Amino acid sequence: MSIKEIFQSMDYGPAPESAAEALAWIAAHGGRFGGFIDGAFSEPGETFVTRNPATEEALAEVTRATQADVDRAVAAARAAQPGWAALGGHGRARVLYAIARLLQKQSRLFAVLETLDNGKPIRESRDIDVPLAIRHFYHHAGYAELMETELADRAPLGVCGQVIPWNFPLLMLAWKVAPALAMGNTVVLKPAEYTSLTALLFADLCRQAGVPKGVVNIVTGDGAVGEMVVKADVEKVAFTGSTAVGRIIREATAGTGKALTLELGGKSPYVVFEDADLDSAVEGLVDAIWFNQGQVCCAGSRLLVQEGVADAFHRKLKARMDKLRIGDPLDKAIDIGAVVDPVQLATITRLVDANTEGERYVAPCPLPARGAFYPPTFITGLSPAAPLMQEEIFGPVLVSTTFRTPAEAVELANNTRYGLAATVWTENVNLALDIAPRLMAGVVWVNGTNMFDAAAPFGGVRESGFGREGGWEGLTAYTRPAREVGEPLKPVEPFAGEGAPVDPLDRTHKLYIGGKQARPDGGYSRPVWSPEGDLLGHASLANRKDLRNAVEAANAARAWGRTTGHARAQILYFLAENLSARAAEFARRIDGLTSRGGAEEVEASIRTLFRWAAWADKVDGRAAGAPFRGVALAMREPVGTIGVLCDDRSPLLGLVATLAPAIALGNRAILVASEPFPLAATDFYQVLETSDVPSGVVNILTGSHGELAPVLASHLDIDAVWSFSSQPLARTIEAKSAGNLKRTWVETRARDWTRPDDRSFIEAATEVKTVWIPYGE
Ligand code: NAI
Repeated sequence: MSIKEIFQSMDYGPAPESAAEALAWIAAHGGRFGGFIDGAFSEPGETFVTRNPATEEALAEVTRATQADVDRAVAAARAAQPGWAALGGHGRARVLYAIARLLQKQSRLFAVLETLDNGKPIRESRDIDVPLAIRHFYHHAGYAELMETELADRAPLGVCGQVIPWNFPLLMLAWKVAPALAMGNTVVLKPAEYTSLTALLFADLCRQAGVPKGVVNIVTGDGAVGEMVVKADVEKVAFTGSTAVGRIIREATAGTGKALTLELGGKSPYVVFEDADLDSAVEGLVDAIWFNQGQVCCAGSRLLVQEGVADAFHRKLKARMDKLRIGDPLDKAIDIGAVVDPVQLATITRLVDANTEGERYVAPCPLPARGAFYPPTFITGLSPAAPLMQEEIFGPVLVSTTFRTPAEAVELANNTRYGLAATVWTENVNLALDIAPRLMAGVVWVNGTNMFDAAAPFGGVRESGFGREGGWEGLTAYTRPAREVGEPLKPVEPFAGEGAPVDPLDRTHKLYIGGKQARPDGGYSRPVWSPEGDLLGHASLANRKDLRNAVEAANAARAWGRTTGHARAQILYFLAENLSARAAEFARRIDGLTSRGGAEEVEASIRTLFRWAAWADKVDGRAAGAPFRGVALAMREPVGTIGVLCDDRSPLLGLVATLAPAIALGNRAILVASEPFPLAATDFYQVLETSDVPSGVVNILTGSHGELAPVLASHLDIDAVWSFSSQPLARTIEAKSAGNLKRTWVETRARDWTRPDDRSFIEAATEVKTVWIPYGE
């Protein structure tokens, strides 16, 4: 282009970044890579080609790891872990700091290699992916340093298997590796098959940073290698990727005792109210859906605009689309690069072409003659149920609809099976902060979008997965309690007998559903005997229908989650008071059921109610300071409806100790009472009835844990399942929970309920919602 032409068109000239250094690094490895195991690159085995999706040229050959490779990597990680943990927080902080420094020094090389392998614009890899990865290591060097004092009661898990996707290859590696290492774990990480190169370059960097051998291991390959990592002898599996694979992993790890976090897909709403600064909202939308070609799990892919400004907003958006530049990702002046692979290009094309509704607007910039390019696309006029409104496209395709009122905006925004992120644009602070809590999403951005920081927890609800990455909250996922207490749980059998009824009026205790005592649907009950073999009464056997009724009642009581902590505390105190008034009666009941310390159990139950009354208005959340103009409020919200299989050993305390934290923190509970000793729970109905607990907030069933566990775990309207049952139910509960990817907590050790473990319950009874708001200059 001549200078005259440039002056005439005022167009950008090409500003390509050189690929020479990155290609030289590949060449220095002979263009073929083995995995990185026990501190060294192994000889390449059977390889596959990794290509530059923008040019279709081969970049390198990468090894498809074998089972033996994965086993060797896990063994190396296992051997290295005690030494790495023993290095202490400060020792690990030094190593993480060295990683951060070296990443910073080599940031251009990492950015170019990322762009070559993934197709994302160099502007993004240079200004976003790599700086955020660096920030993650710096920030986590700090957590390592502080672990011994601030997390004194936590210990590393051991070896972590980590499987990551191709959309942010280096950044996702940083999100996984930094917290794991900071907390004293070692890792076996599998990058996605399309984008292994920056992980291998990172392996090179680990050697320079003095990471002890075996602490970081990288195995490359496709989903089959991912499966091997998931099934390996590891203490934790961390996965980011599609919801479909997340489900497979949930099932594969069920009952293995492995900790699991899943960061899955989304269809995140981008809500523009009529008083928004429309130009800023358009700019935000460019970052929401065209950042990384829309291959972002939290992409603002569903535009919801208030009707009054919809036409104006659409016009502005289309005008902005007309200016988007698509082309060589290494060109510093382009906006849109290549999608990761022709396979992904075909997926996007198929999804969009199958749509017959609405109107499609395509950015006019010509596409390069070759390479996996898809033009920015905007589709209006879709019905809420249209597949494109519901399915994750994972490409540069925005779909849109309009709304009239804020209430309708919330309804449309939440009309999805996902719950990863949401964006709200309005100049009205009251409106923004009214809407944010009502959105079902793990992250909400106000007047901004796609902001991330190491200090701010990130993660989803519903089918977007569970667990958080980043911040203090993300560290829990890489630690366990420092002291394992309690013996492994052993099944507790009910007493048998054939004696006469203790009370001549033999009663059948009902169920407690929606604030009322209800006869069991099946009409069955079972006798409950004392240790001496006397008949104490009959307990109803709840079935699937009773459980469904309980879920309906619980869901009708959603308003409980919006009550204040202060109000909930009052009710818990009232429960304690009413239980206290009947302490002697309950103590006799427990003695009759188990012949063990009834009075102590009642006393401990009253204390537990006081304890959770205390917590009800003190689970505060926090404000994380991100290094730019905003704060991220990490708010703790109730999980929703929690199904609980109660401890079999303690008829009353096992019920109260789970009911209290659940409802104190705003959840509704469906509790299945101790199976062998259900009658203290049935007596508790009367305490509930006299204590102002709104109907539906607490529902109690009696019956078989084994039969009810799979029903609880597979019910789509239950948000979490906890089991303290003495039955070995982990496998069933965890596998069945894969349907709606509900959170599960299956305890395998006998808890001492008199030793408070409030933190575990606060974690389990709340979700962290990170709300980003503009703040400061
Ligand atoms: P994917 O979920 O199959 O791949 C992610 C990672 O999981 C890769 O490392 C892959 O090798 C591995 N993997 C695949 N199957 C596995 C298995 N059975 N066990 C263990 N690991 C396994 O994602 P894919 O197929 O590359 O993309 C398909 C769709 O997934 C995309 O169109 C997009 O909708 C979604 N996706 C979402 C991501 C997110 O961050 N939420 C990231 C990548 C893809």
